[in-house]
Amino acid sequence: MSVEPPKSSSSKPSTSSQSDLSVTVIGGGTMGNGIAHVFAQSGHPVTLVDVSKEACERAFATIEKNLGRMVTKEKLTEQQMQETLQRLSTSMSIQEGCQDAGLIVEAVPEVLQLKRDVYQDVEAVVEPNAVIATNTSSISITKLANTLKHPERFIGMHFFNPVPVMSLVEVVKGHQTDQAVVDAVMAWSQGLGKVPVPVNDSPGFVSNRVLMPMINEAIFSVYEGVATPEHVDEVMKRGMAHPMGPLRLADFIGLDVCLDILRVLYEGFQDPKYRPCPLLVKMVDAGTLGDKTGQGFYSYK
Ligand code: CAA
Repeated sequence: MSVEPPKSSSSKPSTSSQSDLSVTVIGGGTMGNGIAHVFAQSGHPVTLVDVSKEACERAFATIEKNLGRMVTKEKLTEQQMQETLQRLSTSMSIQEGCQDAGLIVEAVPEVLQLKRDVYQDVEAVVEPNAVIATNTSSISITKLANTLKHPERFIGMHFFNPVPVMSLVEVVKGHQTDQAVVDAVMAWSQGLGKVPVPVNDSPGFVSNRVLMPMINEAIFSVYEGVATPEHVDEVMKRGMAHPMGPLRLADFIGLDVCLDILRVLYEGFQDPKYRPCPLLVKMVDAGTLGDKTGQGFYSYK
């Protein structure tokens, strides 16, 4: 399959003029607004789609705040910030928001059916050579693609929180993803100043297959009374130079998200080594999900 951004005359994946690529990000939550931010900052026209006016305004305000933080730190000029904001528009309609996009990045909640519904709406309106990417942190790319008319143009583009700061993009090739699509997404990610790493579709990809068992073991250490959350985190920060301890990081990611990913690993590999710690299950049942609820292993009230 040939992949090219609309408005380009080339028949090969075209990444020479990065700003020619129009990008639509679906979902304006933490990851979606971060993804929209980095594409707009790198010169791409970006449309951010979310379900309500309030959600769109909230996403735009977060991007403005994070750009302002970069201006304060002198990583960006005031003019660059204004230019970035001018490249951003919002829409409440997938139909309207996706029509001219060469790349669509889906960043809606991790619910299989919700994502599939989004892809159906996207495929109904997009250009035939547009690439559809998902920011899923663990759902199989191959499984997500199996209701698509064109699974060969579907790919995982896994960003990390906070998106403007973390340099990795895990580029996940599904069973049917065309190699030209992988190559285009690798080049587009580099154009964002990120470091793309190609991986094949497998439960948790590489990032969460390695990260989540560590977080789970940290939770087991607390559950079994080996150490307090503070002490577990101190060990990993001072002994292993992690910027955040695993329990602080679990709160930052969201304990519900961690549990969902561990369940994907447990079911996907059918291996008891991925069994989620009962304490994690209990905290999620109690609604103590970390930063977003104000209480997790630590209190943020
Ligand atoms: N937008 C722009 N800049 C931001 C930002 C944002 N949202 N958040 C932080 N920053 C910048 C700050 O301006 C600051 O810049 P300087 O270095 O120039 O001062 C820098 O990031 C560090 O921020 P702070 O000083 O406020 O705080 P910190 O030093 O404690 O760092 C952190 C915060 C970057 C989050 C750091 O603790 C860290 O790297 N933690 C680990 C994060 C991580 O592992 N993320 C991946 C999670 S897993 C995931 O996302 C995927 C998944 O599938 C679960």
